[in-house]
Amino acid sequence: MMQAFRAALLDFVADPAESGEQSIRYHTDGLLLVEQGRVKACGDYQQIKATLPDDIDITDYRGYLIMPGFIDTHVHYAQTGIIASYGEQLLDWLKRYTFPAERKFSDPAYAREAAQFFLRQLFANGTTTALVFATVHVESVDAIFDAAAQHQMRLISGKVMMDRHAPDYLLDNAQDSYDDSRALIEKWHGKGRLSYAVTPRFAPTSSEAQLELAGQLWQQYDGVYLQSHVAENESEVAWVRKLFPWSRSYLDVYEHFGLLGERSVYAHGIYLNQEDRKRMADTGTALSFCPTSNLFLGSGLLEVQKIQQQAIRYGFGTDVGGGTSFSLFRTAQEGYKISQLTGHPLSPLQMAYRMTLGGARSLYLDDVLGNFECGKEADFVVIDPGATELMQRRLHQADAIDEQLFALIMLGDDRNIVATHVLGECVYRRPSV
Ligand code: GUN
Ligand code: ZN
Repeated sequence: MMQAFRAALLDFVADPAESGEQSIRYHTDGLLLVEQGRVKACGDYQQIKATLPDDIDITDYRGYLIMPGFIDTHVHYAQTGIIASYGEQLLDWLKRYTFPAERKFSDPAYAREAAQFFLRQLFANGTTTALVFATVHVESVDAIFDAAAQHQMRLISGKVMMDRHAPDYLLDNAQDSYDDSRALIEKWHGKGRLSYAVTPRFAPTSSEAQLELAGQLWQQYDGVYLQSHVAENESEVAWVRKLFPWSRSYLDVYEHFGLLGERSVYAHGIYLNQEDRKRMADTGTALSFCPTSNLFLGSGLLEVQKIQQQAIRYGFGTDVGGGTSFSLFRTAQEGYKISQLTGHPLSPLQMAYRMTLGGARSLYLDDVLGNFECGKEADFVVIDPGATELMQRRLHQADAIDEQLFALIMLGDDRNIVATHVLGECVYRRPSV
């Protein structure tokens, strides 16, 4: 039952913003030992090898870098097919592309195929854990959980709740959305590595009655998540102000209905104010930073430095199909550029941390994954830092690990992913050329 993997190994034990170089563990010639899907040991090859039986089978990934599996804290599986759709900003983009695409997920066969395809995209990009929007259809939730269960993947998802301001064919109502979500929690939450997320789409598409019930449902179950969108786009923010004139802010609408707290995760947050950020930090509410989406939909530039300074938990989200890539490398690349434009460039270690342990912390999963501490779930990605001639050339001129990591993140994408392992088992291998 023992598996051993030899490669360079890199993980985090703390936030680099707090612990600097102490936050990172790096072994140029390392060995990762896995027993029954859990990390048994992680360290220097020579040291660990000496403790092992002579005949142990070692998977030789020398020349490659193993990191903890990447974490996507916000993505819509039903939008895979409309990724890269031209021309609109959020509200028109939803109407023109998103809602018609999501309509198709009432068909279980369609949803099953799409779920399988989606998971292949995650694995091909080194992502092993995700917080996923399904659609309003119960069938879409069954499909994504079924697919994840087949790979024993740690995945969180839920049925979209929306009872207004969308086409009739996508609307539920407050009571049905509560009953259906509840039945899905009973069916899926805590089954294997799956968790449920109560999923009101965003304030404009839920009545106050629905938000109220969402809050009640979320409070009733231990360990259940809540996911939604907040303060993404200026027209959206203005609309929320009109719909909820009594509210202090967009975030305040959610707080009013009891939707902030540990295990609630909001995508975007570009237009949050200082007080909102404080409420998020104080309540343990997490933010998902979705750079490719924010640029693609023209939503705006998140001042990620402020999120960090106010000690809000955050991770990266691809937000496909508003986002343009499943790759956490690509996502961090755009995040870096946004951080440049807002005056506080993210450090290489900070980005790698957010792709792994920081993402896990934002999802309150760092007790079970996010790094290679003994006993944690052995989800990991095998990276080829020199996947192209250009990358090789660049790496030859990078000595320190943070410099190498930076070049890898800035140039990286799915071409760098050699293999992806879930609980030690290989779920993806790069096609050989
Ligand atoms: N706000 C409400 N729904 C969505 C969605 O599907 N994508 C994004 N990016 N924002 C949203
Ligand atoms: Zn989204």
